[in-house]
Amino acid sequence: MDPSPIARRVTGATMTNESSLKSLSPASDVIAAMGKVRVVPVLTIEDAESAPNLVSALVAGGLRVVEVTLRTPAALQAIQRAANEVADAVVGAGSVTSSSAVGIAIDAGAQFIVSPGLDEGVITACLDRGVAVIPGIATASELLHAIALGVDVVKLFPAEVVGGPAMISALSAVWPDVRFMPTGGISATNARNYFTLPQVLAVGGSWMVSSSAVGTGDWASITASAVTALELTRELP
Ligand code: 3PG
Repeated sequence: MDPSPIARRVTGATMTNESSLKSLSPASDVIAAMGKVRVVPVLTIEDAESAPNLVSALVAGGLRVVEVTLRTPAALQAIQRAANEVADAVVGAGSVTSSSAVGIAIDAGAQFIVSPGLDEGVITACLDRGVAVIPGIATASELLHAIALGVDVVKLFPAEVVGGPAMISALSAVWPDVRFMPTGGISATNARNYFTLPQVLAVGGSWMVSSSAVGTGDWASITASAVTALELTRELP
């Protein structure tokens, strides 16, 4: 998967191979890692104690970029523990809806920020910290605004509700350089519809993380689900 245009602008060069990743800025590294894996688990963690095991299980299955939503009291500690204790993981914060939450999440160890909507304060706070930001958009006007703010990787949210793959294709006809991380209502049954689109950097979703498996500590089944999710990105038509 090609890096996003914003990643190329940050580095001043087109990234062509694995070794070139090493010289990229952190924000570009994160975007490149997402584009390589193409599946970003969206985790809502109730117990921070489970975070290292959960994220390790996903990494073992090949999903090393994870988004932890700021929807639970445990979220920040979960980010901190996963970021500190799982060596290969790239941990970001999701459901970030204010600029103050940006700083708190980054201080906890978040390497990227995802927002369900488009907020100038959130974007500016991320750009000021040099951290990758993926704001949510659901309309052409919001995408236009995001681009004006310097963003060209966006989250289509909630993807299945606002038009899904057809919406991405329609927006891409106007803005071919934008890359999308669709999230919301995506599962093993419809994910391939997104992976076939070259404008889709990665697909986000919670479908590969069963809450009962997390509850019982069945990490092997989480790893197996991660492998299955990753297989959806292979052998595309
Ligand atoms: C999100 O926060 O992006 C979504 O809630 C994840 O959507 P899903 O649970 O439908 O995958």
